[in-house]
Amino acid sequence: FAPRHLLSIADLTPAEFSTLLSNASSHKASIKSGVTPAALAGKLSGKTIALMFSKRSTRTRVSTEAAVTSMGGHPMFLGSGDIQLGVNESLYDTSVVISSMVSAMVARVGAHAEVADLAKHSSVPVINALSADFHPLQTIADFVTIQETFGKEKVQGLKVAWVGDANNVLFDLAIGCLKMGVDIAVAAPAGYTIPAAMKQLILASAPEGSTAKLTETNVPEEAVKGSNILVTDTWISMGQEEESAKRLKAFAGYQITEELAKRGGAKDGWRFMHCLPRHSEEVDDEVFYGKRSLVFPEAENRLWAAISALEGFVVNKGKIV
Ligand code: CP
Ligand code: NVA
Repeated sequence: FAPRHLLSIADLTPAEFSTLLSNASSHKASIKSGVTPAALAGKLSGKTIALMFSKRSTRTRVSTEAAVTSMGGHPMFLGSGDIQLGVNESLYDTSVVISSMVSAMVARVGAHAEVADLAKHSSVPVINALSADFHPLQTIADFVTIQETFGKEKVQGLKVAWVGDANNVLFDLAIGCLKMGVDIAVAAPAGYTIPAAMKQLILASAPEGSTAKLTETNVPEEAVKGSNILVTDTWISMGQEEESAKRLKAFAGYQITEELAKRGGAKDGWRFMHCLPRHSEEVDDEVFYGKRSLVFPEAENRLWAAISALEGFVVNKGKIV
């Protein structure tokens, strides 16, 4: 019996994605009011969840570890210095062995093929904790934040502007946007735009009849025009450190500032989001720490997203209800 995995938001129907968001929000409300929902209490009791990280992490590590603990499970953190993950042993061997001993694997890897390989050979659910292509747990948290901020009924028809590197965080966010009827405009410099195959996958995620659009430009102001939410991420993702000088040069002019939003014509009351970790080159302090910023509630929502994903994929074995 093949387990169901969460490798990308593309793995979810729009209805399943919405359900994961509602579950995250309702669990957040219950737990914050001091009540652990019966759907979660002790549901991972006696179970070990392997958290396999080949890269650094603050939010993903803390949120997944805390999420497992909140359901009574044991989060077993395995960093790159602890286990063979893509080094000294095939991913096939690692996956078969670890999945024979735990109830799920949460994995942060380099190339997406690594987490796909783990999933292919695993006898238990695998949740992608960031690969070169996708970051589904981040997108769940981002949409919980968007729903909380704008109201659930007002999400459809919003416009998101992504200004910066077309990377893993963007790809799942764009898929989420099209599934939820949200327009997404991407401004990235030439050479750092969405690869053709990824663009196809993003476009294919819009349900039939959806009018939500993905648009691309090299001009930040064009993406910003009429947008409700401005989003960015680091220009130098983990593993790209050697390209730093080249990237800083290529992205000059892409910093999110009040001035850019004004020049581009963002909607009144526009808000700012960032998955973190943040560097000042992609967004200045005024925006990042200002009243428009959603970055800290967004980061907190990583916990509720992790709880919701573990409930759906581990407790309920991929039945998202
Ligand atoms: N946003 C995010 O995934 O952060 P970490 O790399 O700190 O986990
Ligand atoms: N794009 C970043 C996201 C980190 C959460 C990276 O891949 O390093």
